[in-house]
Amino acid sequence: MDLQRVFVKINLETVALTILEDIHMRKLKVGVIGCGNISSIYFQAGQKFEIFDIVACADLDLERAKACAEQFNIPKAYTTEELLGDEEIQLVINLTIPNSHADIHLRALEAGKHTYGEKPLAVELEDGRRILSLAKEKGLLVGSAPDTFLGGGIQTCRKLIDDGWIGEPIAATAFMMYHGPEKFHPNPDFLYQRGAGPMFDMGPYYLTALVNLMGPVRRVTGAARMTFEERMVRTEHQYGRKFPVETPTHITGILEFENGAIGTMITSFDVWGTCVPHIEIHGTTGSLIVPDPNHFGGSVYIKRQEFTDFVEVPLTHGFTENSRGLGVMDMAHAILHGGAHRANGELAYHVLEIMHGFHIASDEGRHYVVESSCHKPEPLPMNIPKNGLSG
Ligand SMILES: NC(=O)c1ccc[n+]([C@@H]2O[C@H](COP(=O)([O-])OP(=O)(O)OC[C@H]3O[C@@H](n4cnc5c(N)ncnc54)[C@H](O)[C@@H]3O)[C@@H](O)[C@H]2O)c1
Repeated sequence: MDLQRVFVKINLETVALTILEDIHMRKLKVGVIGCGNISSIYFQAGQKFEIFDIVACADLDLERAKACAEQFNIPKAYTTEELLGDEEIQLVINLTIPNSHADIHLRALEAGKHTYGEKPLAVELEDGRRILSLAKEKGLLVGSAPDTFLGGGIQTCRKLIDDGWIGEPIAATAFMMYHGPEKFHPNPDFLYQRGAGPMFDMGPYYLTALVNLMGPVRRVTGAARMTFEERMVRTEHQYGRKFPVETPTHITGILEFENGAIGTMITSFDVWGTCVPHIEIHGTTGSLIVPDPNHFGGSVYIKRQEFTDFVEVPLTHGFTENSRGLGVMDMAHAILHGGAHRANGELAYHVLEIMHGFHIASDEGRHYVVESSCHKPEPLPMNIPKNGLSG
């Protein structure tokens, strides 16, 4: 082969490879709105997962967006309007505060973009319904954190339950109690407003894990109280600044699952210390200790009827480190290849309704019948590579 023919052959191979890459390695173009505390892990997810690329970020405070763009090598720092007007962006990751979630989701959908947001889906149920119905009308997908239930810890628990290791699930407990996020969050005010508090802030992790393990909920009741009328910032920057509390800070709930199992739940920002476990699932032939649903990994323990004590179970699934963005990866795969994604809007709306249900039941002294339902998300495959499913 002479030199010219070698050159042509190499060039043709390069072109063929590029075409093949384009077919097999499609990437979704993503824009992030909200460049605060939680955003850095999502920017890292954009670098880790191959199936999506974060091409722009925006914030009410443009300087924050510019700083994130610089730090994480994001090509464009925008205002929200500019980001929503960028035709290249197919999916918006909404990392604003809860009171802005619905507005940004709805505007993203109106702009023809899929949308995935931090929890909760919205503050008000009516807004949650509007988001789901607009997405349906536009043929777009809605996704929502938490995606921690896709991590190795809870996926292992799901496999144990599905494979019958504890028999038929009959009861669950879920406890999230500490003295509030003001000791680590630099801007904690929003965490004590309507749409936050311990139930709306932390409840989504626990309830999403429970629905993933036990299925949907048909009825709840609850009791809620607000213990302290104001809180104080405890981080360095604004240490000592007091701010008002506008939402219940200790909520106890009882859940009746569609499968007949009964759950007991407490979320609290009022408690100084506790030794209770995060989540336990009890079945007809065994009990399961589920790791902290605010994390992706953790230890799983099982005690079957014939065991004398709990034994630790090796994790069956990966993604045990902080893998926020895993839900976006799964959603991007559904957008590019079709099929359902797991951290989806129906699940997030069902969780939102349960949380409202506890508060309504407490205010009105009654049971609350949950109108919505959802599919139990499919388990995640066990062998997904570290950089996620490909496009
Ligand atoms: N901080 C955490 O540890 C953590 C963990 C998990 C989930 N979350 C969730 O992530 C979300 C954001 O929390 P955070 O801690 O990053 O809050 P934050 O206050 O640190 O950041 C929110 C950012 O969104 C911007 N923003 C607010 N409204 C906006 C709007 N309408 N348009 C554009 N930008 C807007 C703010 O300027 C700010 O930069 C919340 O829903 C929270 O529940 C936070």
